[in-house]
Amino acid sequence: MAKEPLVNRRNVLAGTGIITAGVVVAACSPGTENGANPDIKGAGVAPSGTFLTAVADVPVGGGLVLSDPPIVITQPTSGQINGFTAICPHAGCLVSTVVNDEIICPCHGSKFSAVDGSVIQGPAQQALETADVNVKGTNVVLA
Ligand code: FES
Repeated sequence: MAKEPLVNRRNVLAGTGIITAGVVVAACSPGTENGANPDIKGAGVAPSGTFLTAVADVPVGGGLVLSDPPIVITQPTSGQINGFTAICPHAGCLVSTVVNDEIICPCHGSKFSAVDGSVIQGPAQQALETADVNVKGTNVVLA
């Protein structure tokens, strides 16, 4: 029996700006006011090798925002796949979209580089933390 991927199209927020209210409310809970991010580098999120998305579903010059695990996957140039936490370091909201190589947080307008996660526009002061992802065949998986 084939293993079911933990992330599927239903919980991928693909550069459309559409986010369910429940996701935004949960991501902006008071407990994240100081930007406390989950450990997205491995332990505590999902096991290494967990399927995240197909490479073909990551737009070049854009990206995909996953809610579970909260990772944004970008592809600034064809074949260059990057992963970052999708939790904004400003106040803990889930980033919403990737447009023109900028990862955008809908809560207060912070923008981050899709290349290295650095801050392009505040109020966020810290870069998005790197998420360890690998390309395995035609898929992007957790490293
Ligand atoms: S939580 Fe992202 S800009 Fe404030």
